[in-house]
Amino acid sequence: MAFRVGVLISGEGSNLQALLDQVHGRDGIEVACVASSRAGARGLERAEAAGVDSAVFAKADHPDRDARDAALGNWLDDHGIDLVVLAGFMEILGGPFIRRFEGRLINVHPSLLPAFPGVRAIEQALDYGVQVSGVTVHYVDAGVDTGPVVLQEAFELPYARAVEDVERVTHEIEHRLLPRAVRLIATGAVSRDPSNARVVRVDESA
Ligand code: GRF
Repeated sequence: MAFRVGVLISGEGSNLQALLDQVHGRDGIEVACVASSRAGARGLERAEAAGVDSAVFAKADHPDRDARDAALGNWLDDHGIDLVVLAGFMEILGGPFIRRFEGRLINVHPSLLPAFPGVRAIEQALDYGVQVSGVTVHYVDAGVDTGPVVLQEAFELPYARAVEDVERVTHEIEHRLLPRAVRLIATGAVSRDPSNARVVRVDESA
């Protein structure tokens, strides 16, 4: 029985592509479906090219966000999803959706959380003048980018680096960190510390 991953996107989908290239069809892991919050997202073409079922769940097509979230959740459940990956999904998901998929919902964020949550994280880091930044893969909870950290990787940020350079480095890291996190979760190497629910244990030897 494959470990089935559903990926949520809004745009380019380069992290989706990394998952398709590095984990899809390997180690018993399957990217089973891709949902986009926007019609016409480039990531939808990537899903189609890989033969992965996809659909659009735009808020405007539903009475309100909760209705959209419920329809999306039902669609993911219909696909028998074990893990939902937010890979550049640029919308807030409501509490009911987050509770429904709690412990089975991860996000990739382009900063070393808890620094610079929310949108434009790279710009926030550059404006602040930090000298180290990075990428975080974390479980999703009810807050904005506040859930327990699964994996992080840092890089040095020399003075006056251009935003495009930082984006390039960030993406390179994301494209190996997110597939690694999915592989570790799928193979049972990731667990929560029973004495502190914020602490995630990763057993790379599992
Ligand atoms: C990534 O930088 C990710 O960290 C952020 O949104 C971006 C999505 O890029 N959450 P892509 O659509 O995967 O190319």
